[in-house]
Amino acid sequence: MGTDLGLTTLPFYVPGSAMELRAVFLVGFMASGKSSVGQELARRWDWDFVDLDTRVEWRERQTIPEIFRERGEPGFRFAETSALGDLLTESLKRNTVVALGGGAFVQERNRELLRPWPSVFLEAPADELWQRSLTDGVERPLRGDPEQFARLYAERLPFYRQASVTVVTSGKDLASLCAEIERRLQFRGRTEAAGRSQIPPTHFGTGESQ
Ligand code: S3P
Repeated sequence: MGTDLGLTTLPFYVPGSAMELRAVFLVGFMASGKSSVGQELARRWDWDFVDLDTRVEWRERQTIPEIFRERGEPGFRFAETSALGDLLTESLKRNTVVALGGGAFVQERNRELLRPWPSVFLEAPADELWQRSLTDGVERPLRGDPEQFARLYAERLPFYRQASVTVVTSGKDLASLCAEIERRLQFRGRTEAAGRSQIPPTHFGTGESQ
């Protein structure tokens, strides 16, 4: 049925070239698996993978904890939006899966920039994410104690829910999660991923959780 629609985004033209590119953005709270899922989707589709936090660090020549220490959260958000803007206007070279940082989709300006593109919210309960965040070895300036973590999660949830598609991750392995994302995005597979889409962006995703 819907499977013949293909993964659809606005055609995207890199300034100065005639190349048309597609991208999918992964959204979700800290430790929700955006990078692992993004890398696996990119491998399955033969797309590039970009981690926005890594782009921020590369552009600023500083680690994220250093940026937070020196410039606070407003300084980090400014750098994050600049990196996202650059990515969308200059540095996408091939079809790309992008993992956003946990607060990126909460910022209105970033959601505006991302409006033409499909976004996938990786949803899991705050207590599960807290447990994962203790063991994944990532230093996160905005991870305080479990109560603060749960409060921040609750504040952000309405924004995450604005993603094109929501996928619940709990109890699922990487392969079934990726297969579910492909189904929800009506992705036609590797060959189609390399081709061009003429289908308008309104034809993908439902925003509903399954
Ligand atoms: C942040 C999450 C981090 C990173 C920064 C801010 C947040 O990314 O962008 O520390 O506001 O939740 P991860 O979601 O990859 O941990």
